Amino acid sequence: MEKKNIDWSNLGFAYQVTDKRFVSNYKNGAWDEGVLTEDATITLTECAGVLQYAQTCFEGLKAYTTEDGRTVCFRPDLNASRMKDSCERLEMPVFPEDKFVEAVKAVVRANEAYVPPYGSGATLYIRPYMFGSSAVIGVKPAEEYQFRMFCTPVGPYFKGGAKPITIRVCDYDRAAPHGTGHIKAGLNYAMSLYQIVDAHEQGFDENMYLDAATRTYVEETGGANFIFITKDGTLVTPKSDSILPSITRRSLMVVAEKYLGMKVEHRPVRFDEIKDFAECGLCGTAAVISPVGKINDHGKEICFPSGMDEMGPVTKKLYDTLTGIQMGRIEAPEGWIVEI
Ligand code: PLP
Ligand code: COI
Repeated sequence: MEKKNIDWSNLGFAYQVTDKRFVSNYKNGAWDEGVLTEDATITLTECAGVLQYAQTCFEGLKAYTTEDGRTVCFRPDLNASRMKDSCERLEMPVFPEDKFVEAVKAVVRANEAYVPPYGSGATLYIRPYMFGSSAVIGVKPAEEYQFRMFCTPVGPYFKGGAKPITIRVCDYDRAAPHGTGHIKAGLNYAMSLYQIVDAHEQGFDENMYLDAATRTYVEETGGANFIFITKDGTLVTPKSDSILPSITRRSLMVVAEKYLGMKVEHRPVRFDEIKDFAECGLCGTAAVISPVGKINDHGKEICFPSGMDEMGPVTKKLYDTLTGIQMGRIEAPEGWIVEI
C-alpha cells in the first residue's frame, strides 16, 4: 500500500480530510447496514436535535503501524462500550458494539494510505460520533440519528510532544456531581471552550478542574485524566463519578502493576496532596501521556521535581511501555491489540 505524501513528523493535532468515512442511519427504531462514503459533508434539517439541544456524543481512538508493518488499533471494544454508556445517558440509540468495532476496521482499511508509518511519531486518529438528526423543537430526544466515523492522521496533542506543560487550576467547573462528566457528550466540551481559550491567553496549556461540589479534589483536564507518581514510585490516579473513564488511564494502571511491578492507587486525590508528588502527567488517546511540569494555583506555583525539561523517569517508563504495546514492540495483554 502506497502511503500519502504527507510530512508525517510535522503533523499537529488537526483535522485533514481522508478518503472514506462510515455512515449509518437510525430510523423507525433500527440502524441500517451503514456504508463507507466519500462524502465528508452532512445535510441536516435546521431543527435537528443535535443543533437545538446538543444531542451528540463521540469517541476517540487510534490506529498504528507496528514495528513489523502491521496496522493495528488499541482496545476499540472499550470505545464501543463507553459510547454505549454515553448514548444511554443522552437518550440515544446504542450502535451495536460489534458493528462499532467492524466499522473501525472498515474505516482504517479504507484509509490505509493515511496510517502514518512506524517511527514517524504520528498516528491515525479515529473519531466515531452520533447525533440526533430529526427535527426536535420541544425538549425531547430526536427520533432519528446518524452514526459516523472518520479518521485523520495526527501528531502530538500538545505542541512539543514530550516536553512538560504548564496547567492552571480553573475556577469554572467541567462537570457537576450526578451530571454528564463520566460520558463523552459534546456538551461537556462546548462548555469548556471559554476556559481553554482563557487558559491559552494567560499562557497555560490546559485547565485542571476540581470537584464542583467542594473544590478540594482533583478531577481531570478538559481532554485527559491525571496520573501522579509519588516519591516512592506509586501510580496514583483520581477517582470520581464525574471523571471520564479514560481507556488510556485504565490501561496504564495495568501496565504499571503487571509490567512495571508498581503499586497503583485509584482513589479520590485531594488538591492539597499534589505538592508532595514527584511526577504528574495527563493521559488520554490524544494526549498519550503528556508530562505536567508545573501547576499554577492562582499565582502560586506547584513545581514537580521532574522539572520543565523532560518527562520524569517513572512517567517515561509508563510511556515507553504503553507505546511499546501499541506499536507492537512489547507483547500486549490478551485482546488489547486488534489487527486491521
Ligand atoms: N478525559 C476527557 C475529558 C477526555 O475527553 C478524554 C479523551 O478521550 C480522556 C479523559 C481520555 O480518555 P481516553 O484515554 O479513553 O482517550
Ligand atoms: C481523545 O483523546 O480522544 C479526546 O477525545 C480528547 C479530545 C480533547 C481530543
